Amino acid sequence: MNEATMTTTAAVRDDDAERREPVLSVRDLRVTFSRGGRTVHAVNGVSYDAYPGRMLAIIGESGSGKSVGVRALMGLLPPSAFVEGSARIGGTQLVGLGEPAMRRVRGSEVAMVFQDPARSLNPTMAVGAQVAEAVRAHGGVDKRAAAERAVELLRLVRLPAAERRFHEYPHQLSGGMRQRVMIAIGLAASPKVLIADEATTALDVTTQAQIMELLLDLQDRLGTAVILISHDLGLAASYADEVLVMYAGRIVERADAAQLFRNVRMPYTHALLGAVPQLANPPHTPLAVIDGQPPDLSRPIVGCSFRPRCAFATAACAEAPPLEEHESAHWYACHHPVGLAGDPRTAEEDAR
Ligand SMILES: Nc1ncnc2c1ncn2[C@@H]1O[C@H](COP(=O)(O)OP(=O)(O)OP(=O)(O)O)[C@@H](O)[C@H]1O
Ligand code: SF4
Ligand SMILES: [Mg+2]
Repeated sequence: MNEATMTTTAAVRDDDAERREPVLSVRDLRVTFSRGGRTVHAVNGVSYDAYPGRMLAIIGESGSGKSVGVRALMGLLPPSAFVEGSARIGGTQLVGLGEPAMRRVRGSEVAMVFQDPARSLNPTMAVGAQVAEAVRAHGGVDKRAAAERAVELLRLVRLPAAERRFHEYPHQLSGGMRQRVMIAIGLAASPKVLIADEATTALDVTTQAQIMELLLDLQDRLGTAVILISHDLGLAASYADEVLVMYAGRIVERADAAQLFRNVRMPYTHALLGAVPQLANPPHTPLAVIDGQPPDLSRPIVGCSFRPRCAFATAACAEAPPLEEHESAHWYACHHPVGLAGDPRTAEEDAR
């Protein structure tokens, strides 16, 4: 099976009938930027589904297309971006949607929480008023009802002393509290999908864990599909249901989190994991640094995009490997996957 004909395996393995329909279906998403007469191919044919109440993690080195891919869904790219493919949420096709319609989708269908809440919040406005404003932006409620709903949302995200904090300004809150406020704003119109793009990266490890627990709780209670974008493998391993690994604008490996971290197949993922045994106790496991640089996305890529940095490359890798489901619900794009039974390249790790 290739990427385009991918079945909903992630859903099939889940017995819960209501979780079988994806809320978001992305197919062959492509994003290019025109820059100084050059075309940057930032996202090169990405397909995936996001399911209610489940967390999908997208990991990969800097510049692999994680943020551009999700920003494309929300119409948050600059005019130099050209987006193709399909991204359906409910009955709505997001690719090509005009700004007025996209404004209605943003927040009510899909919302995003970014890394730096200090920059996203208005420093001159009390945080409760900012949440209430987000509630009112989606219509149908007066000022008083919006304020009441804002307090409810601040309680939902477990902001300590929500009623009192309602009147405080962003600088009076800790980084973790500000991120809770951003999540409350994200949830103001009950989106089906919540995207957290490095939303915990700026926080200390303890606060990071608390925010991740909050996201898990919200996805369970509200049935929200969460897309977690992170450099932190520990977070993906600990909290996500499914993981996509991106390289040079493509998905190169994709599986259930448990399967992926137990049975890495793609040499790129293998290299990212670096000291693999760390994943036995994962809470904070940054990506390993891999020798060499990702390819220049403004030049044509011939063969496997990871080939110049891959320790296992052979002549066969001059032909690009397609992303295929080689094992049950485990897709990877590689001619020489690692870690298969008897593989001498990874036998040493198996023995540990
Ligand atoms: N406005 C833009 N104009 C031109 N190229 C861009 C623009 N925004 C992003 N890119 C390019 O698109 C590619 C993907 O960028 P993206 O921000 O998605 O990476 P990322 O995986 O989110 O990285 P990070 O982990 O650093 O956030 C990069 O090569 C980047 O330089
Ligand atoms: S296809 Fe070849 S170059 Fe690419 S990751 Fe696999 S072994 Fe390495
Ligand atoms: Mg990014």
